[in-house]
Amino acid sequence: MEKNGSLFYYRGLLWMVYIAVVVRTCNGDLSYSVPEEMKKGTVFGNVAKDLGLTTKGLSDRKARIDMEGHEKRFCDLVGGQLATAERIDREELCGSKPSCALNYELVLENPLELHRITLQIEDINDNAPRFPKNEIKLEIRESAVKGARFPLNEAHDSDVGRNGIQTYSLEKNDYFTLSVNSNSDGRKYSELVLDKELDREQEQEVTLILTASDGGTPAKSGTAVIRVTVLDANDNLPVFSQPVYEVSLPENSPLGTVAVVVTATDADEGANGEVTYEFSHISDKAARLFSIDETTGEIKVIGQIDYEDKQEYELRVLAKDGAGLASNTKVEIAITDVNDNAPVIFIKSLNVPIPENVAPGTEVGIVNVQDKDTGGNKNIRCSIQQNVPFKLNPSIKNYYTLLTTGELDRELLAEYNVTITATDEGSPPLSSSKTIHLYLSDVNDNPPVFEEQSYSAYVSENNKPGSSVCSVSARDPDWRQNGTVFYSLLPSEVNGVALSSYLSINGDTGVIHAVRAFDYEQFRSFKVQVVARDNGSPPLSSNVTVSVFITDENDNSPQILYPTPEGNSFMTEMVPKAALSGSLLSKVIAVDADSGQNAWLSYQIVKSTDPGLFTIGVHSGEIRAQRDISESDSMKQNLVISVKDNGQPSLSTTCAVYLVISDNLAEVPELKDMSYEENNSKLTSYLIIALVSVSTFFLTFLILIIAVRLCHRRKPRLLFDGAVAIPSAYLPPNYADVDGTGTLRSTYNYDAYMTTGSRTSDFKFVTSYNDNTLPSATTLKRSPGDNSECLNFTSLDFTDSASKCSTLVVEELFSNVAGLSPSLPDPY
Ligand SMILES: *[C@@H]1O[C@H](CO)[C@@H](O)[C@H](O)[C@H]1NC(C)=O
Ligand SMILES: *[C@@H]1O[C@H](CO)[C@@H](O)[C@H](O)[C@H]1NC(C)=O
Ligand SMILES: *[C@@H]1O[C@H](CO)[C@@H](O)[C@H](O)[C@H]1NC(C)=O
Repeated sequence: MEKNGSLFYYRGLLWMVYIAVVVRTCNGDLSYSVPEEMKKGTVFGNVAKDLGLTTKGLSDRKARIDMEGHEKRFCDLVGGQLATAERIDREELCGSKPSCALNYELVLENPLELHRITLQIEDINDNAPRFPKNEIKLEIRESAVKGARFPLNEAHDSDVGRNGIQTYSLEKNDYFTLSVNSNSDGRKYSELVLDKELDREQEQEVTLILTASDGGTPAKSGTAVIRVTVLDANDNLPVFSQPVYEVSLPENSPLGTVAVVVTATDADEGANGEVTYEFSHISDKAARLFSIDETTGEIKVIGQIDYEDKQEYELRVLAKDGAGLASNTKVEIAITDVNDNAPVIFIKSLNVPIPENVAPGTEVGIVNVQDKDTGGNKNIRCSIQQNVPFKLNPSIKNYYTLLTTGELDRELLAEYNVTITATDEGSPPLSSSKTIHLYLSDVNDNPPVFEEQSYSAYVSENNKPGSSVCSVSARDPDWRQNGTVFYSLLPSEVNGVALSSYLSINGDTGVIHAVRAFDYEQFRSFKVQVVARDNGSPPLSSNVTVSVFITDENDNSPQILYPTPEGNSFMTEMVPKAALSGSLLSKVIAVDADSGQNAWLSYQIVKSTDPGLFTIGVHSGEIRAQRDISESDSMKQNLVISVKDNGQPSLSTTCAVYLVISDNLAEVPELKDMSYEENNSKLTSYLIIALVSVSTFFLTFLILIIAVRLCHRRKPRLLFDGAVAIPSAYLPPNYADVDGTGTLRSTYNYDAYMTTGSRTSDFKFVTSYNDNTLPSATTLKRSPGDNSECLNFTSLDFTDSASKCSTLVVEELFSNVAGLSPSLPDPY
């Protein structure tokens, strides 16, 4: 024993003491015990001693160890002592049996002795506790309540007794404690006890370390990791990210616009955490405008949103998880205004038609503008176009008054289209416009206006009554009756006769008609005033002067003044016998009441006793000797002279001139003879016609003169005064312009050439036929005191003043001629 290590030495000592004790108790049979796992050759029993034999005695008696049935021998007899033959593993030999004994027999010979040897194998703590798996997985629902128990796997230790598992322990943690219990067969097991409720949402997994310890010295232990997975329970409501969603959304947002996205989160897992959304409360109107996506929580526009309809929508949204837990939120959608409403213009009143004479600033209409938008979108500017005499004045609020700005004139512009434009202040601004039709009513503010400042009418004399003379026309731009023109003649007198007996006018057309035939020789022109009057109330009128000029026609044949075609007393001219060729012998004086060409007379000898002896001046009417008078020429010479005017057709008169070639008046034969001397029938008939006409003419003169003298004793004197005044009217032999018309100067006067019997003197008697001469002819002026004869006189058929005047003058001349005093007072 001393040869072994110190450990084994002590151990051997210990065991020897123990064995000695055992041997004493066994008394006969030998019993030994040895710890397992001893080194080979470890002596653990002195058999010799225990049998009271010496080592020599034992070997002498051939002591040996026999085994029953064992293949393996764990011990041998070495020099009387028992020693281990190889390593002994108790756990292998006996497993978990509490005691492990090997039985041997010691055989001695000489004498044969048999001793039983029992070898007890003692356990040593050579095994640590061990768990079947290093990791224990547990799944615990978070809803597990405090105190819940969760059995754990047992650990295993091959050692027995005290060397077996004695305790379990758990690493310190927040949730679990360990409860160690023994089961019916005394084995210990452990359970996890929930000490604090789990929350998956806080910690999804809890890791614990479980330790199993045996009771050996020193003790051994084994560990396992417990992984606790916390299973979800639907213990969380969906939670919205905001308690209230407030959003603003422009109106007219297109369909599909996402107004807002509501999100709710559910801390739970899986179906418990799957959130769906729906409206929990929504008005019918909002339901038509918004929809919610069940899974995404997007609230989209599905209808036409109109700010003007509703400005705010409140929706309630419910979020629900798979297990039906739900929560609510509120979504407030404020609609913002977009300038989508154009202003609207209302014409509240309109005073049409507008009388054209309204004063500037007169109110003609009231306009109201409205815009359904808000804010700046509702502010409206209102205007009308520039070029009209109207303006828009802002009045209260959105009212405007439409005023006139200037004088209106229906005749200039009768209607206006005024366009009112209203524009709001949105961006972009919207505008609208409305056109109003303003029209003016008429006021009779325009008098009729004649188209010409004055009218002239030329009428041929002898016109047909009723023929139109001229036409006037006046315009009046006023409306209807205010512009309807009626024409009338302003009453006046022409030559003392009412105008109406000369002219009439068509009130509607302005055509002036002659009522009677005019006579140029009676008067040549007159003026009338035509009034144009409209039918307004009060009416307006204007007037115009119409000058009527009567033009001459060749309606008067020439009248022979000398030689006087006087009844029976033929006047004769004395021709001196010594008259030379070209000397003036006599002169035919004729007048024509017409004028101009119609009074331009030409003289011609149509018949003569001696055709070669006399000539007559074609225009002067002077009868001259064509050759020297000779003694052989007949004393009595008759000439038939034709006086023709230049009218178309021309009119003519003939007269006879009796010439007596004699120096002695006594030689003059009977005039009667002379008249009948002519036996040329043609000449005779001419003479008869001439005589008859001349005598008729002369008679008429006589009657007239007598009548005048009877009527006015003073008048004839005046007449003669006038006649005496002839020399003052004697003018140089040219045409005098005494005409008043200014247009037909040369044709409106004519000359009367008068010749006396004098060979040397002649004068031209010029009479003017100016209009003014007639009224100024005092001889013909009618006075209130005139008797009827006098009136008859004026109405007698004096062709015109000229002829009257001439006649009177000629009468004076005749008195000289008749007295055969051929010389007139010489004007020179
Ligand atoms: C006003 O408008 C009406 C209708 O459009 C049209 O007949 C008329 O000629 C217009 N008047 C003026 C003065 O522009
Ligand atoms: C004519 O003018 C008067 C005012 O001077 C007015 O009262 C009337 O209505 C007008 N007539 C027409 C037909 O316009
Ligand atoms: C004719 O018109 C003039 C002005 O044009 C006026 O002075 C005169 O009084 C009018 N005469 C009549 C009779 O109306």
